[in-house]
Amino acid sequence: MQNLDAPALGHNQPPLSETAAEAGRRRTFAIIAHPDAGKTTLTEQLLLLGGAIQIAGAVRAKGERRRTRSDWMKIEQDRGISVATSVMTFEYAGQIFNLLDTPGHEDFSEDTYRTLSAVDAAVMVIDAAKGIEAQTRKLFEVCRLRDIPIVTFINKMDREAREPLELLDEIEKTLALDVTPATWPIGSGRQFAGVYDRAHETLRLLRPGNEQGDERDEKVTGPDDVRIDALLPHGQGDALREGIELASVYPEFELASFREGHLTPVYFGSALRGFGVKHLLDGLAQFAPSPSARAADARVVEPEEEKLTGFVFKIQANTDLQHRDRVAFLRVCSGRLRKGARLKQVRTGKSIPVNAPLFFFAKERQVAEEAWPGDVVGIANHGVLRIGDTLTDGEELNFRGVPSFAPEILRRVRLDDPMLAKKLRKALDQLADEGVVQVFRPLDGSQPVVGVVGQLQLDVLSSRIQAEYGVHITFEGTSWSTMRWVAPKEEGPQDRAALDRFLRSAPSQMAEDHDNEPVAFFTSDWGRRRAEEEWPALRFLSLREQHGVGEQA
Ligand code: G4P
Repeated sequence: MQNLDAPALGHNQPPLSETAAEAGRRRTFAIIAHPDAGKTTLTEQLLLLGGAIQIAGAVRAKGERRRTRSDWMKIEQDRGISVATSVMTFEYAGQIFNLLDTPGHEDFSEDTYRTLSAVDAAVMVIDAAKGIEAQTRKLFEVCRLRDIPIVTFINKMDREAREPLELLDEIEKTLALDVTPATWPIGSGRQFAGVYDRAHETLRLLRPGNEQGDERDEKVTGPDDVRIDALLPHGQGDALREGIELASVYPEFELASFREGHLTPVYFGSALRGFGVKHLLDGLAQFAPSPSARAADARVVEPEEEKLTGFVFKIQANTDLQHRDRVAFLRVCSGRLRKGARLKQVRTGKSIPVNAPLFFFAKERQVAEEAWPGDVVGIANHGVLRIGDTLTDGEELNFRGVPSFAPEILRRVRLDDPMLAKKLRKALDQLADEGVVQVFRPLDGSQPVVGVVGQLQLDVLSSRIQAEYGVHITFEGTSWSTMRWVAPKEEGPQDRAALDRFLRSAPSQMAEDHDNEPVAFFTSDWGRRRAEEEWPALRFLSLREQHGVGEQA
């Protein structure tokens, strides 16, 4: 089963295994941006360059197509936000790019964290008039936690923009990140004429009339080349020389520093005009890392290993109205995934058939014959797979880093018709598998409690339960403001007994999460601290990795 698109890679180098060669040409990344900075527009342009779509506007897909796609989730339409995460694959310069889309709305930050656990690089989009915004910063912090290398795109240069120097300084100072301007803009707004590519000493100019995408490259001998003045509108040559001089105060690009997440190359452009996007993509192709080794509990997994490993970072329901299915997104970490393979779900030991792994090209889905490290494939299933699940060729190991955070909004679910309790249970279980909400079942047997990061998640939950399960629910406030996962400090019988005593001490304040792990609710931080003091044999955790609380054995 040969990958049809595989180029003859590395014929001048020692022969690589097929897995190593295929892994080597994968680039798996996400775009992080504050809403409105231009993520969707840029995505569209990247897909255009990669030939994955033919017309600009296909991603945004306003109007008819969008309506048919998201009918099931009216909220998405009503509020004009994209709630669902998706993955898009395209080919460029002999490499396979997997772009994992992250929801922009802050209520879905957990979804975003999980998606970022599955990428090897990120593009940070900044609005040239606004600079670093709240959400850019938050998302950047997640990337930093994982040392994800970042390429920066300063967008909307065709509008009035802040001075390049000011923008670069802001990135450097507020994010504590070194910057290397890869290109330098020539004017902005109506005067925006293009950029100067520093590494290639080339003017990359917008065509007169600013037509979509079409640009003209003019090689020069350097900033002092007199041709620059002839090529640019009056006065812009001197301004550019000054800019290039300023650019040289920033550190030189250094691949190692970029790969460690300490330095970002910066590209200027206009996604709307399709300008600068190619420079960005060339930069990604050149610098972004192919899949690297990943830590699992048992050992570190190298991508070129022949045995397959991967983990589920996202479950999406209703990706296609024709098939009311659930698709688990598996990030392949090592080996080759073949169509028809049977994989081991490590959590349960079950064997999972992968008869039709799905690849996603823009909005199309296609059955893949095979997938390689860095690829993300969709596995349709009926609720067997969960977020955080590791799948292998048989080995017992679990990847880390798909976390759950202690939610701050806790609501009791109220059911109008008690006859539907069983249906509600199923609905909540399935939506918890998808990571839409966290579900807790109080030990005193009272109605379930759901935990979310933002109000919007509650709206999504109730409308989906209504639409998909025909159950009407409402939410009731609780007095709890926080929760913690509770675990014994030591594995021995003493601390286990302490846990049992603690759980029995106030069953109405205790619950089990979706994986039957014990949790405690608190009405205040003070109450939580007091419990921590009173129960020294226990750990109270605000973050949980899938499959076991906190660190694992
Ligand atoms: P997002 O996904 O990050 O939220 O941003 P999106 O791409 O939807 O862009 C937000 C708005 O900014 C859109 O305008 C888009 O057309 C505009 N935009 C994106 N890139 C550029 C750019 O390079 N230059 C200029 N001038 N505008 C840009 P909108 O009015 O909200 O939507 P639409 O009516 O144009 O579709």
